Amino acid sequence: MKQITLSQVSKMYNHIKAVDDVCLEIEEGCFYAIKGHSGSGKTTLLNILGTLDNPTEGSVMVDDINILNMTDKEKSLIRMKKIGFVFQEFYLNETFKAFENVMVPMFINPELKGHNLKDRAVQILDDLGLGERVNHYPNILSGGEKQRVAIARALANNPDCILADEPTGNLDKDNELMVLKILKQLSLEGKAVVVVSHNDEVLKFADYAFEMSKGRLKEVAYEI
Ligand SMILES: Nc1ncnc2c1ncn2[C@@H]1O[C@H](COP(=O)(O)OP(=O)(O)O)[C@@H](O)[C@H]1O
Ligand SMILES: [Mg+2]
Repeated sequence: MKQITLSQVSKMYNHIKAVDDVCLEIEEGCFYAIKGHSGSGKTTLLNILGTLDNPTEGSVMVDDINILNMTDKEKSLIRMKKIGFVFQEFYLNETFKAFENVMVPMFINPELKGHNLKDRAVQILDDLGLGERVNHYPNILSGGEKQRVAIARALANNPDCILADEPTGNLDKDNELMVLKILKQLSLEGKAVVVVSHNDEVLKFADYAFEMSKGRLKEVAYEI
């Protein structure tokens, strides 16, 4: 993936404009931080960036292809190969061990057929400092560890882009910092990383910092 480009994107829910005339270009190797209060439209915007949702106005281009011209199947292929999602609530499968959670997205990837998926999952977890936790079930992991497993799962198919929706919302300060550092590192390794949050901490990591308010997105200057 080279980039995702939103042009004059709006999303209406009944009478509410959840996203209002947003232009945004997401490129590999950059960290984008979007700060905004609850209800400002962050999740809606992230879902549009991730092709989970269509805008009511404007265009979404993924590598110069307009997603409005894609079938649902084509969009799900893009999500599988190019986009990794991370959520505030982790959404791990509690009945699977850490490495099994990371393997789940690999099963639907035909390009990985014949590969040793377990080794691959263990390696990704090890890279995130979870080498000792691969066989653990989520319920005995700390919040920070759970989120690292969720990040590992997002990396399972080596996506070009990571979209993280309040990834530190359930974490204490130390773990918040650890998760933001990992996401920053992923951007330095060449991935496009978009993180939305209702607090300021994330802005310190940003190459491009934005504030969202009532569906409007505006770039903000942020000095570290
Ligand atoms: N599926 C939906 N149906 C109706 N309204 C929605 C839906 N999703 C979001 N909204 C509304 O859109 C606005 C933005 O929501 P959201 O994107 O979840 O904001 P944030 O993630 O910043 O809290 C809110 O007013 C919310 O109530
Ligand atoms: Mg939200």
